[in-house]
Amino acid sequence: RGRSVVSPSGDHLLRRSFTSAAPLPERKVAILGAAGGIGQPLSLLMKLNPLVSKLALYDIAGTPGVAADVSHINTRAEVAGYMTEDQIGEALEGSDVVIIPAGVPRKPGMTRDDLFNINAGIVKNLCTFIAKYCPNALVNMISNPVNSTVPIASEVFKKAGTYDEKKLFGVTTLDVVRARTFYAGKAKVPVADVNVPVVGGHAGITILPLFSQATPASNVVLSADEITALTKRTQDGGTEVVEAKAGKGSATLSMAYAGALFADACLKGLNGVPDVVECTFVQSSVTELPFFASKVRLGKNGVEEVLRLGSLSDFEKQGLESLKPELKSSIEKGIKFAKEN
Ligand code: NAD
Ligand code: LMR
Repeated sequence: RGRSVVSPSGDHLLRRSFTSAAPLPERKVAILGAAGGIGQPLSLLMKLNPLVSKLALYDIAGTPGVAADVSHINTRAEVAGYMTEDQIGEALEGSDVVIIPAGVPRKPGMTRDDLFNINAGIVKNLCTFIAKYCPNALVNMISNPVNSTVPIASEVFKKAGTYDEKKLFGVTTLDVVRARTFYAGKAKVPVADVNVPVVGGHAGITILPLFSQATPASNVVLSADEITALTKRTQDGGTEVVEAKAGKGSATLSMAYAGALFADACLKGLNGVPDVVECTFVQSSVTELPFFASKVRLGKNGVEEVLRLGSLSDFEKQGLESLKPELKSSIEKGIKFAKEN
């Protein structure tokens, strides 16, 4: 009888008065390149994230339409669109997280490094504005080639005197998303439960999935040939999409999902949620290379701890040695560009 007199709204009030859950903090997220193939679905996913209170959408074209559209969704984040460099300051000011999917995507036959000439300048320019308007924001770099654009960003921030290595991330989450999907299919484990660390960088052989550390344990023992094939498919996942899209760009939907996962992890870390761990390309001393992707614990200031690689199979050890020269030269190319331009 007692229960039947409690209305749904009364029940809600009761729960509110007896729980100590703190209100979610205000968090502003800016997306630079918000009207693009990744930018649009990523804007949608960030609008759906209850951790976001303000969402600033910036692009050189098309943002008013995307912003008007996304803003009609009845979720917490207040949306505003910004276009042209006159408005970028307003877009960036007060941002906690800035996500950068601005720049050109690959066409069939191209490598990510073929995008360098156009995207290096775009990223350098955008990072100059970040240094000016929101130097404390966590920067999630999606624009390719990530192995070079992250070092470019670091140099721009160093020049501006704002560099904090704990706050700059190359987004490699899509490699993890792919490794999980491909591994679950072969190992016959539930795809939602799978985790596979992916280390190194974000291009071809620099993408090194560590299937020897995959969880949960599987009853299916994968042969060396199967592990080689899974590794190659993960490394070539981007190319698989580029070829399937046949000239209409590269991964956008799966990338938006991956970008939203990574930004969500950054926000959770900022909000003090414990044990938020994601693979990401950061300044690192895990190997002799100055930047490297590995598992990273995220916290209130960004990177809390760069985790070591753990034990590797002989195949993975070989992969690690083989990727170093290419990754080193992509990092150096980015640093040289930023220093000379
Ligand atoms: P797209 O061409 O569809 O969109 C890019 C957007 O960037 C466009 O709307 C364009 O107007 C905008 N833009 C260009 N210059 C800009 C500037 N100076 N300021 C703000 N916006 C600007 O491309 P896309 O498919 O969305 O891909 C974007 C980038 O993301 C590419 O470099 C691609 O290679 C990369 N990418 C990375 C990953 C990853 O895993 N890290 C995955 C997929 C794609
Ligand atoms: C990806 O991995 O899908 C992206 O880096 C885009 C690309 O060019 O492959």
